[in-house]
Amino acid sequence: MTTAYAPGKVILFGEHAVVYGRPAIAVPVSQVRACAVVENASLGKGMTIRATDLELALRLDASTATDHPAYALQATVRNVLGWLQCSSVPDLTLTVSSTVPMARGLGSGAALATAVVRALSRHLGRELTSQQVSELVYQTEVIHHGTPSGIDNTVVAFERPVYFVRGQPIEVLQVRRPFWLAIGDTGIASPTRVAVGDVRRGWQSDPRTYDALFDCIGAIAAAAKQAIASGNLPALGVFMDENQVLLARLGVSSPELDRLLHAARAAGAMGAKLCGAGRGGNMIALVAQDQAKSVATALRRAGAANAIVTQVPQSE
Ligand code: MEV
Repeated sequence: MTTAYAPGKVILFGEHAVVYGRPAIAVPVSQVRACAVVENASLGKGMTIRATDLELALRLDASTATDHPAYALQATVRNVLGWLQCSSVPDLTLTVSSTVPMARGLGSGAALATAVVRALSRHLGRELTSQQVSELVYQTEVIHHGTPSGIDNTVVAFERPVYFVRGQPIEVLQVRRPFWLAIGDTGIASPTRVAVGDVRRGWQSDPRTYDALFDCIGAIAAAAKQAIASGNLPALGVFMDENQVLLARLGVSSPELDRLLHAARAAGAMGAKLCGAGRGGNMIALVAQDQAKSVATALRRAGAANAIVTQVPQSE
């Protein structure tokens, strides 16, 4: 039996603009994670995929529509088998589960695919590099999102804070001082594909305005990288607020997100913004360690379906 886990993630700066080549910053979130378990099955049984949270069990070769919850899982498994040049489907059972909420900006698709790629390749005797895992997971991200930037598969597969520019090699973020984030969930599912598609239509109809917004967001991500490298947390909070204003102008905030952002700032957060595709999903707030609990409580009181606190550790 082989088990593998993968974390969720949050985007600290630069979502949406990162799809258009601007830099972005993301960090893994280990409080939520996906799990994949691979076990041998009896000879000739072929491969079965079970998703315990969804009460789903089906064969790898079962025909599923592209919007079926198992479609991306089947594709991920086929991609791994293809990568490993397996000449036939092995007799295995793959069981997946996850505490990363789906379609809430925490990288649920990338986390599940990463756990599957790692567990399956290890079980078949191959330890893939993080870069290889990331590339395989990117193929699953294309199924989920259509035009992913690649940031989710990168931060989840490498499990390190990253400064990410589409198409460029991974750059691990240097963190001078640890910092804490409160993460609040609006409880509203918002598929990335939809928000990314709407932003694309906006960009197509008014490229000048959207490119200017993307440039400003990219400049904030670049400045935030320096603030993180020098441990300037108050500046980081200001950058989060500024990034949020620009995300709202892209049309991806929502009244529910705005309510949680307001509650976090009122409870003492240094800055706050939505994270991921927006329209729902999660928001993050930069908090002092001794305020983290009270900000999380304020988020729940303001209607958050869930609130967790995570630390971004200092670089080694
Ligand atoms: C999704 O986690 C982040 C987006 O920027 C999409 C992407 O980068 O592929 C909204």
